[in-house]
Amino acid sequence: MRVFGVPLLCGALFSYFRTVKSSLVTFPSVVIPLSGLFDNQAASLDGTTGNFDGNGATYAAEYLPKGPWLYNGISYDLPSTWGQSQDNVIAEGQVVKLSNATYVHELHILYAGDSSGSGLSGTFSLNYADSSAKYLPFTGKDWWKWPILNWGEIRTPYHFEEYSSNKNWNSTQVFQISLSVPSRAPLQSITLPETSSTSDRLHIFALSMTPSLEPASGLLMPQLSVRSAQFSTRWEDVNGQRAQAVAITLANLLPGSYATSSNASINSRYEISVAGEGVSTVTPGLVYRLVPADQARVDVLVLNSGGTGNATVTIKDEFGNVVGTSEGWPIVPLRTEWTADADVLTTHETPTWWNQAKYGIFIHWGVYSVPAWGPPGSYAEWYDWDLHNPPDSSSPTWVHHLDTYGKDVVYDDFIANFTASTWNPSAWLDLFTEAGAKYFVIVTKHHDGYALFDTKNTTHRSSVYLNPHRDFVKELMDTAKSDYPDIHRGTYYSLPEWFNPDFSKYGFDVWPGGLAHNAFNTSELEPYTGILNISDYIEDLQYPQMLSLALDYDTEIMWCDIGGPNKTLDFAAQFYNKAMQNGYQVTMNDRCGAIPDFDTPEYATFGSLSTRRWETSEGMDPFSYGLNTATNASEYKNGTTIIQTLVDIVSKNGNYLLDVGPTAEGDIIAPMADNLLAAGKWLKYAGDCVYATDYWYQASQNPTGSFRFLTTSKTFCVIAFNKPSNGQVTVDAGGVTLPIQTGDSVVLLGPSRNAQSLEWNIDGSGVLTVVVPQDQVDLVDYAWAFQVTYSGRG
Ligand SMILES: *[C@@H]1O[C@H](CO)[C@@H](O)[C@H](O)[C@H]1NC(C)=O
Ligand SMILES: *[C@@H]1O[C@H](CO)[C@@H](O)[C@H](O)[C@H]1NC(C)=O
Ligand SMILES: *[C@@H]1O[C@H](CO)[C@@H](O)[C@H](O)[C@H]1NC(C)=O
Ligand SMILES: *[C@@H]1O[C@H](CO)[C@@H](O)[C@H](O)[C@H]1NC(C)=O
Ligand SMILES: *[C@@H]1O[C@H](CO)[C@@H](O)[C@H](O)[C@H]1NC(C)=O
Ligand SMILES: *[C@@H]1O[C@H](CO)[C@@H](O)[C@H](O)[C@H]1NC(C)=O
Ligand SMILES: *[C@@H]1O[C@H](CO)[C@@H](O)[C@H](O)[C@H]1NC(C)=O
Ligand SMILES: *[C@@H]1O[C@H](CO)[C@@H](O)[C@H](O)[C@H]1NC(C)=O
Ligand SMILES: *[C@@H]1O[C@H](CO)[C@@H](O)[C@H](O)[C@H]1NC(C)=O
Ligand SMILES: *[C@@H]1O[C@H](CO)[C@@H](O)[C@H](O)[C@H]1NC(C)=O
Ligand SMILES: *[C@@H]1O[C@H](CO)[C@@H](O)[C@H](O)[C@H]1NC(C)=O
Repeated sequence: MRVFGVPLLCGALFSYFRTVKSSLVTFPSVVIPLSGLFDNQAASLDGTTGNFDGNGATYAAEYLPKGPWLYNGISYDLPSTWGQSQDNVIAEGQVVKLSNATYVHELHILYAGDSSGSGLSGTFSLNYADSSAKYLPFTGKDWWKWPILNWGEIRTPYHFEEYSSNKNWNSTQVFQISLSVPSRAPLQSITLPETSSTSDRLHIFALSMTPSLEPASGLLMPQLSVRSAQFSTRWEDVNGQRAQAVAITLANLLPGSYATSSNASINSRYEISVAGEGVSTVTPGLVYRLVPADQARVDVLVLNSGGTGNATVTIKDEFGNVVGTSEGWPIVPLRTEWTADADVLTTHETPTWWNQAKYGIFIHWGVYSVPAWGPPGSYAEWYDWDLHNPPDSSSPTWVHHLDTYGKDVVYDDFIANFTASTWNPSAWLDLFTEAGAKYFVIVTKHHDGYALFDTKNTTHRSSVYLNPHRDFVKELMDTAKSDYPDIHRGTYYSLPEWFNPDFSKYGFDVWPGGLAHNAFNTSELEPYTGILNISDYIEDLQYPQMLSLALDYDTEIMWCDIGGPNKTLDFAAQFYNKAMQNGYQVTMNDRCGAIPDFDTPEYATFGSLSTRRWETSEGMDPFSYGLNTATNASEYKNGTTIIQTLVDIVSKNGNYLLDVGPTAEGDIIAPMADNLLAAGKWLKYAGDCVYATDYWYQASQNPTGSFRFLTTSKTFCVIAFNKPSNGQVTVDAGGVTLPIQTGDSVVLLGPSRNAQSLEWNIDGSGVLTVVVPQDQVDLVDYAWAFQVTYSGRG
């Protein structure tokens, strides 16, 4: 669209544009009635009626919002009373008809899975008026999970158990998710996933949709709308001032059927700014491309002098003309102090640096690195537990221990052999740098209770007081701070300890606390070397240790494990305040027992986009974090696996925390290091398609085959997992047109410095073909990143 730059428009057209300019379309949402399909009662007033999970457990009705419910600008229809009648549908292939077939931009769902953590998935089928269908894979979460938290948009403090008024005080949730809907044709109906026969059923409480918008007049132009404008807790220094990031999502509501027409897109530099009482923009957000049916996310940096009321978002085109201004979005001041209040701490977000870093290295190193053994396919860092459970020949670890060390050696005897004799923190950090990682997370204390930092008067079960009398966490943090300022520093911390006698009063599941019984003579108790006389595990050990990692070691990531009893609210307030006062930003995962910033699937990745931040962790070993000498090193993740896993995760909005298990001496063995370095080589030339990228709205929900897509404001990346052959690559994004337009340049990111522009073509159905010389393809390993740079001016 160049219309605004043309000075000779006739008056009539001008006045038309003035009305268009004055306000942007409000992002619409229309309730899709669902109550006719309700077949389940999730909520109960006292626990005795209803049956959400098939075993008589129910939500507590009093905590669920009633009637019309607005979340992030989307309206839903919820029951006006809960606990008296059916209130949701269990998805089992029912067809939900739209009252009129219409182009749909986005589908909005309020849902919950009904198990306690087994993993919910299914596929929505979208049925179009032209008889075609599209499939939207869906990965969801369960209403509650234990001991690691699930965190939903509606949270209740407990649920009722088994047709009774018994309360289970695990935080219990309803989740919101929005799915991008391909809109080449009008949508007629939605077939719900078939989940009735699975152990984890999908319950849908409400559905809503955002219709596409046809061009307002004969003239084709983008139909822009502010999808959301959210004042975040993230900030950046701009000229010595702390500027708050406002996360703006912009939508082009034209249906995808217009995708191949360049007039239908933003094709040049558009500037997004935010203004309101006490709020002014210091760094606008820039959008260079926004095609029909797509969305783009940008940060606008504002100075916010504690403004209240609403702010508006203004979009200007490349000539500085105002395209439109949105209606109001609530101003939230940048927080200047955190208090130990869940409602306040819940607003905390992962910092921008974490969102952009994408790739970190996890380090599992401790006493378990001495035996470094588990039956292949088991966590070697669980040696101490597996040795005792069960304490007989049915435990491979028990057998291994007896054969290797004899019955007189107890776990704590390994402490003497945890030498770190060749450890060089710079060598690790060099490796992480060359591997392309942007942060690390070191285990500071695992479930065996042996800490790698100065635990002071909480316990002397630590490397500082026991062998080898060194503060490893400090050495690594200090080296990183002074010599590797670009690498961020994180700490893993296990909240419970398997065998700490002081934990027994809090014990649960496989963290019972209490001294271990000798694995070869169960009438003897094993020592818990280094323990001090404290009166309370949480007050005198867990909480002060966590605080010390934040206050004395300046950790930037608190990566807790297991959850359970905690003082995390008090901890988080101090952790966040210390960072804020010292000018840096930190984050905390979902295993600290409360208020998570991000989710942590373990040896798993989400099958589709999660807009809530998340991070997959897994070892180089097929299934162990600690070094497992029983694993054949040929099975470690290789360059291909590392790069393709990373790209897949990033394309769905996640980070990848890849773990190494060093030896007791402190070495990262060659087969692990070599594969990390191999992946690092790829990131050196193709990292622009990974770091600081964003997912592509139209495909993140449905990653197609062997391609992944990533975006920045000026570029679009197509990453092919299969090696292109025959001198070309053909990209079909499953019926969605790629946001590529005449004039854009395409290069294959490879080791040669000046990549040449490639010939490309996009056909009428949106399929992209790029011609690429085989010699360029052959120079690249693992994945082929085609980077499209938008031609847009400015
Ligand atoms: C559906 O179409 C009919 C006839 O065109 C119209 O009267 C009705 O308002 C439409 N309903 C909705 C929900 O748009
Ligand atoms: C959470 O659920 C687990 C597993 O059912 C249970 O053992 C635990 O007591 C619950 N926690 C609370 C605080 O109710
Ligand atoms: C596209 O925009 C140009 C002016 O920039 C106009 O001349 C042309 O008619 C438009 N095409 C359509 C299909 O609206
Ligand atoms: C803020 O904007 C919303 C609509 O976007 C409106 O409902 C609300 O009244 C506005 N609030 C204020 C304080 O202006
Ligand atoms: C400790 O190391 C010594 C010397 O290598 C070895 O003989 C002994 O078996 C090891 N003991 C344990 C418990 O690891
Ligand atoms: C097991 O330990 C108990 C208590 O120390 C001891 O009396 C007993 O002799 C031990 N049994 C064996 C077989 O060593
Ligand atoms: C541990 O401390 C308690 C009081 O804090 C005291 O009564 C007890 O004697 C102490 N035990 C030891 C072994 O020092
Ligand atoms: C440990 O030392 C701190 C600071 O001196 C003190 O406040 C705390 O009570 C001590 N804890 C124990 C268990 O002695
Ligand atoms: C963390 O502690 C809080 C406050 O005591 C408690 O409500 C919550 O249930 C704990 N989290 C877990 C997972 O046990
Ligand atoms: C490890 O794997 C390689 C390659 O698959 C194989 O050649 C070798 O025999 C294996 N080594 C052991 C000890 O299993
Ligand atoms: C990398 O590992 C994957 C998965 O184990 C395997 O399929 C692939 O062949 C390996 N690639 C190379 C080059 O060894």
